[in-house]
Amino acid sequence: MPSAHYQPLELRADDNDEDDLLEEGLLEHCTIETDVQPNGRIRYHPQPVDELRSIGGMTAPRFSRAASSGMRRFLFVTLILLPICFLIYFVISPQSQDSEDADGDVDPHNGIGNTIGIALNEPLHICSERYEDHRLYIDDKPRSAYAQLPVIYFVTPTYPRREQIPELIRLAYTLLHVPRLHWLVANDREGCDNFLDMQLNGFGIPYTHMASPMPREYRKVKPAPRGVANRRAALQWLHQHNLTNGILYFGDDDNTYDLRLFSEIRQTQRVSMFPVGLIAEYAISGPVVRDGKVVAFLDSWVAGRRWPVDMAGFAVSLSYMSQYPNVNMPYKPGYEEDLFLRSIGLRIEQIEPRGKNCTEILVWHTQTKNKKSAVVRLENRFMDERSNLGALFRLLERMGVARASDTEGLLATISKNGKSKTHSYFLN
Ligand SMILES: *[C@@H]1O[C@H](CO)[C@@H](O)[C@H](O)[C@H]1NC(C)=O
Repeated sequence: MPSAHYQPLELRADDNDEDDLLEEGLLEHCTIETDVQPNGRIRYHPQPVDELRSIGGMTAPRFSRAASSGMRRFLFVTLILLPICFLIYFVISPQSQDSEDADGDVDPHNGIGNTIGIALNEPLHICSERYEDHRLYIDDKPRSAYAQLPVIYFVTPTYPRREQIPELIRLAYTLLHVPRLHWLVANDREGCDNFLDMQLNGFGIPYTHMASPMPREYRKVKPAPRGVANRRAALQWLHQHNLTNGILYFGDDDNTYDLRLFSEIRQTQRVSMFPVGLIAEYAISGPVVRDGKVVAFLDSWVAGRRWPVDMAGFAVSLSYMSQYPNVNMPYKPGYEEDLFLRSIGLRIEQIEPRGKNCTEILVWHTQTKNKKSAVVRLENRFMDERSNLGALFRLLERMGVARASDTEGLLATISKNGKSKTHSYFLN
């Protein structure tokens, strides 16, 4: 099913810059039926999983018959209106997003504008999710002390590798200190990882775990657009939930986060930016700030990007983002941040510098050395309950870290008092 859920959200009345007027024109034609609450609050979804499943078109096993006639009528109206909307958008306002920037500089991305216009339409595959926060205390205060804060939607793209689970555990122990956070973990693989479900469920942080594999056609491309399918799925999730309150932040699984980052981004009105440490040659990337305003960017790789920033270097408020129905992140390696920020009509004067006018570094692009998962030669006959080794290697295998093999890999050395002995000496 095409983007039936891609209903534009309502505009804020107090905003009337050019981009917004364009969007507004678009909205008039394309608004099919919106169910955003007028007060702009998060809409509560009592059965989000079912709804996502039936609408995402992945599987609809739990789709109720009673709802289906209303649904059919909705589909019918949608299918008639959609082509009209597309026609109006592509024929009447082509490339409306990518006009010249405020300085009158020529847009270096002519031609990319088209890819921005293609709406997100990711089939969502939710593995598991939880809306309740199971933490009783967060940093010595009861959870209720934070109830008024806007929610941070922390989007973590991840992919199966030896380091995946350890990285996510480390990140989780950072996030456990952060109140009012919903962790969107999007995994780049076809099916759900039950072990990851179990892990995420155990932390007590509200989360959504989805499987968001990179489409096959991009896997052979070098460099591959890693993490894009994941972030697109998360954007789709946010859109399907009609969230118009809260903050979006893209936080990779291998970065290092100072807890002050979270209080800084929580104040985001539109788009906030801040320096990221350990990026490329300068070991830093971020805005140049004068008199409290962002005036330029420091980043060693410009490549025509209007917004040469790292994915971890900005946060977006959902009340702002929801005014841009064409929010997008195209599969274009290196340009994900730039094109995403263009798709939400960002202007340099709107950027809110954070971290004491960008003098602090609150996030670091640390990278873990990746290695292939290990194979250890250990006889299968000893992998039982006589010792801990059977359970230990079954766990490592589920985590994708290592596996024991009868015939392959490095022979396991088992020693005592500085001397190694045969496996059967200890294990038989
Ligand atoms: C940022 O700079 C502006 C202008 O110099 C100043 O008024 C403001 O207090 C600074 N903000 C912080 C948090 O230091």
